[in-house]
Amino acid sequence: MASRGSFASKFGVLMATVGSAVGLGNIWRFPYQMADNGGDAFLLMYVICVFFMGVPAMMAEFIIGRHTHRNAVGAFESLAPKTSWTGVGYLGVFTGFIIDCYYCVVTGWTLYYLYKSVTGSLLGGTMDSYAQMFSAFAADTWLPIILLIVVVIITCGILVMGVQKGIENVSKVLLPMLFVTLIILAVNSCLMPGALDGLKFMFVPSKSNVTLFTFLDAAGQAFFSLSIGMGALITYSSYFDDNINITKTATQIAVIDLLVAVVSSLIIFPAVFTFGAEPEQGPGLVFKVLPSVFTQMKIGWLWSVMFYLLLFIAALTSFLSITEVVVAYASETFNLKRLTSSIIIGAIFVVIGSVTSLSFGPLKDVTLFDMTIFELMDYLASNILLPVGGVLISVFVGWRLDRKVVASQLKVESPKQYKLLSVYIFFLRYIVPVTVGGVFASQFFS
Ligand code: PFF
Repeated sequence: MASRGSFASKFGVLMATVGSAVGLGNIWRFPYQMADNGGDAFLLMYVICVFFMGVPAMMAEFIIGRHTHRNAVGAFESLAPKTSWTGVGYLGVFTGFIIDCYYCVVTGWTLYYLYKSVTGSLLGGTMDSYAQMFSAFAADTWLPIILLIVVVIITCGILVMGVQKGIENVSKVLLPMLFVTLIILAVNSCLMPGALDGLKFMFVPSKSNVTLFTFLDAAGQAFFSLSIGMGALITYSSYFDDNINITKTATQIAVIDLLVAVVSSLIIFPAVFTFGAEPEQGPGLVFKVLPSVFTQMKIGWLWSVMFYLLLFIAALTSFLSITEVVVAYASETFNLKRLTSSIIIGAIFVVIGSVTSLSFGPLKDVTLFDMTIFELMDYLASNILLPVGGVLISVFVGWRLDRKVVASQLKVESPKQYKLLSVYIFFLRYIVPVTVGGVFASQFFS
């Protein structure tokens, strides 16, 4: 059996897990979800989902992972052998496949935009020309596929180096870079003349149409953004030491992840309003709208390089964690070296990722439920598989796992802490499943 690694330091743990959480979900997906769902109302629901459902579910993943020190499937096999609970682990690996197959496509796009920014060829166009450029690029057969292959090779290369030398060391270098870049970009955006309009759009309550669907979108976004529901955090926490405080780490990740999403919007909306662009542009927001914004900015070249570097780092460190779920499962279950499993899994991702990429070009007319392959994968993962996975993991820890295990993982000792533990278990048993389940079911009956 390939030897299991572990993270070496608390800082490394935080950077790796934040690296998983902070990704395209924060910088690419959150701002357009917020724009499409009426700004402030979405933000409020999102914050509720993060703290009332996200943090408890994230802690549940950490409890399972650190207690078992196994991959997502192995963890359930050891805690509930020969029961259908192992299905939750398999569901996680399956979800990992689905997300990876479109995540590598978008990560490839960020690489292209980074390259164009560095060479200076990105700037100089108009809003329309950027929309056309993006559509032509995404519809191209080969370029996006070549880029996704590069992304898969970099990712698998890091994973082969192992948990500490690969995932931890890379995260310790890239994440601080990401934070510095994020802050510089946000300060720059907030000094623009349209900053106030951008801030109003984000924070001032409006009479936007809030429906149960908005809540489902917010819940889906929270699970996606916090990397909950597919065992990525079970896998990462299986490399945690005993001295990691689970409650504190989960709260820190949630706060940082939320801040990054909000700060990313602070980068995007003030700039979008300053230069008279439309915020409701869906997934194309950072690829179609922002280049024209950078073109109009002083030293736009520098800002565009920084922004797409930020996006690329965020995407890469999250892609690492999704791929690690599958690599850890394959290496430990089939007794493979990490190198072998990374190569096999990387090859599979390239094949399925390519099909997903082609859904913008030659396969754009292949649709199911009115969605292209790409849209279907995103919808399936964020709005169905991750919430279902997150609820099942919460229910498992709330109802099935021995309370002593939960108490020992959370280092519960005093009577006051036991009271808090009961509140936590109540959240896992009722609040998470009832809220997510209710909202989830409502989409099928409306
Ligand atoms: N949290 C990542 C993001 O915000 O982009 C995406 C993600 C990573 C989802 C890992 C699920 C996961 F297990």
